[in-house]
Amino acid sequence: MLSVALLLFSLSIPAVYCGSHSLQYRIALVSVPGYDVPQYSVVMYIDGLQYGRYNSDTQCAQALAPSLNALSEHIENQTKYAQEYEVWQRHRLNFLMGFFNKSKGDTHIYQRKCACELHEDGTIGGYEEIAFDGKEFFIFDKERVVYVPVTQEAVMVSHLWNIRYDPTDSKVYVENDCIENLKLYLPIISTDLEKKVPPKVKVSSSESESGTKLHCRVYGFYPRDVEVKWIKNGRDEIHSEEAAQILPNPDGTYQIRVSVGVTPEEGATYSCHIDHSSLETPLVVPFEPSKRSILYIIIPVSAALLLLLLLFLRAQQFKKGDPFVLLAFERETQSEQPVPIV
Ligand SMILES: *[C@@H]1O[C@H](CO)[C@@H](O)[C@H](O)[C@H]1NC(C)=O
Ligand SMILES: *[C@@H]1O[C@H](CO)[C@@H](O)[C@H](O)[C@H]1NC(C)=O
Repeated sequence: MLSVALLLFSLSIPAVYCGSHSLQYRIALVSVPGYDVPQYSVVMYIDGLQYGRYNSDTQCAQALAPSLNALSEHIENQTKYAQEYEVWQRHRLNFLMGFFNKSKGDTHIYQRKCACELHEDGTIGGYEEIAFDGKEFFIFDKERVVYVPVTQEAVMVSHLWNIRYDPTDSKVYVENDCIENLKLYLPIISTDLEKKVPPKVKVSSSESESGTKLHCRVYGFYPRDVEVKWIKNGRDEIHSEEAAQILPNPDGTYQIRVSVGVTPEEGATYSCHIDHSSLETPLVVPFEPSKRSILYIIIPVSAALLLLLLLFLRAQQFKKGDPFVLLAFERETQSEQPVPIV
């Protein structure tokens, strides 16, 4: 239910038309039973692409492009602002849950989408939408400076909402702070569009009960789009059962780890193939199985040591004369005795 709600609300990415730019913040606050504090997150988009984020775990505003990190003082200010904003949004979720008699024993979600637009002719625009439990609830009318209810439920609470949460603040934010930020970011990120940082790659393997796994870690690359796959014998792609996620690094670059399960075969070769816009040709990094042979030594040796230890313990008990162990031991030793050749 929760993921459906998130999906519904995130479908409409603002159209980016030529010469016009937008800065959008998507906020989600999710109260999950069993957690005291609802999870809060903000993602910032410029012209529809992710450029920043903040969440209640890190409590830090983070730029997702290397160039934006040059704005360290601005990012510090954004962190402070985001922390205050988080508290205000928590009030709003609590207020809605209280008003609609929603139980804390269920999952509830409050989402807010807020954007400003800078048009080619210099005019500005912007909008704000609020959703509760996956349904659109209020739309902000910037001209009349009022939150307009969208559903029947929202009509019930809209009067109180407009009194408690002054819509003037939203107008000021969209028309001033948001536009200022957009004007600050645009010239900086335009250099990112040409900037490319090639990936670094590490391949490794791990053994578990379910078998051997090969891992390909690709990191430190920019921009975000990358293709990583495991190839067997130079031609067959091995499909990964886990969906690999591209994760942002604090320095604005990205990383991903693609793991596949394999059954070791005599003579088979495995390699990780990486394609990224910074590379002229795809990178091919072979997996060298030499490191695995250490495991082949460690496992039998530790098994042998364990066996010796068990035998020693059994011998100790045997000395103490535990009748049951004694019997068992005797029976075993008897059966192990070679049949005398007459
Ligand atoms: C950060 O905030 C302080 C205090 O509000 C202000 O004086 C300063 O100009 C801001 N710096 C930037 C880069 O926005
Ligand atoms: C919430 O509960 C109170 C008291 O039980 C009731 O008066 C009120 O109408 C309820 N509100 C909603 C939105 O159902």
